Amino acid sequence: MTEVTKEEFGVIPGQGSVQKWRLKSQSVTVEIISLGCIITSIKTKGRDGEFNDIVLGFDNLQGYLNNARYFGAVIGRVANRIAGGRFTVDGKEYQLAINNGPNTLHGGVRGFDKAIWSCQSVEGGVRLTLISPDGDEGFPGELRATVTYILAEDTLSIQYQACSSKTTPINLTNHSYFNLADHAAPDIYDHEVSITSNAYLPVDENMIPTGEIRQVDGSPFDLREPVLLGPRVREVPGPGFDHNFCLVLPGQPWMERACARVYHPASGRVLEVSTSQSGVQFYTANFLDGSLQGKDGATYPKHCSFCLETQNWPDAVNKPQFPDALLRPGEEYNHTTRFTFSTA
Ligand code: BGC
Repeated sequence: MTEVTKEEFGVIPGQGSVQKWRLKSQSVTVEIISLGCIITSIKTKGRDGEFNDIVLGFDNLQGYLNNARYFGAVIGRVANRIAGGRFTVDGKEYQLAINNGPNTLHGGVRGFDKAIWSCQSVEGGVRLTLISPDGDEGFPGELRATVTYILAEDTLSIQYQACSSKTTPINLTNHSYFNLADHAAPDIYDHEVSITSNAYLPVDENMIPTGEIRQVDGSPFDLREPVLLGPRVREVPGPGFDHNFCLVLPGQPWMERACARVYHPASGRVLEVSTSQSGVQFYTANFLDGSLQGKDGATYPKHCSFCLETQNWPDAVNKPQFPDALLRPGEEYNHTTRFTFSTA
């Protein structure tokens, strides 16, 4: 049985009250706020039975108002990068705000992570809803998005649903940063990771996929068998992993499948991820630098955590050879990702 409770987390002047929901099962407690659907805390048991909070975050609302690294947030309308912030739909060109080098990242200047969502209680969890108006951040169509978090024993499921009044690109994900020892642990070098993927997307100097779908064989991106992250992160070109691993190739049916497993030998904690999405962005917190004031005084240096952002492939809206990125009127966008927490 999951116990669901809520309280006020804070008030944003001129915007309203932010709620905090707590989903508590025997083995896992998750906290979610209505600002950006942000997961602010996940407490799970280690092998010794001790609970630790294994996601990065801030102590209070003020921290989340300046959440430049998207800790725990739902990202939309389009997660990841759109090259030049430009795309064409139905013969019409759209230009979005540029907020990351020459590109648009994570939905633009005011993405879904910065909105207050309305909340409704559901069995074992909470459903959050956002109406993104036609023209929001430059995207076409009024989009109604819902994100449903449900905790059932050791599994947190996140269901993303949306419909739109005009054809629009869409790509929703959650941007939680994990460290399976504790959110305040200094690095993830002692974590073992596997990702069930035969191919990844190489990127250019602006982090846009080149278009090539490259096999992982014989490269540092071959994570099909568990690898220790410390040595492996150093073998990857650039500051660490920040790449899309392909889970479904274009034209193949999208169905839920196991995609990643992370094991922390010292605590015994295991995180398993399954998703219906076509890809997963594996990001090793390369751009954190210890300058943030995190929960309980934590500082969050580079490589202190990892994200497994289940999503469609970056810049898919501009790459016809990538899986379809568009949601059309009358269609329903519907994806589920599950995080299962256990020990080994
Ligand atoms: C991206 C990183 C980016 C980070 C922002 C990730 O999803 O892949 O490149 O810096 O989000 O925190």
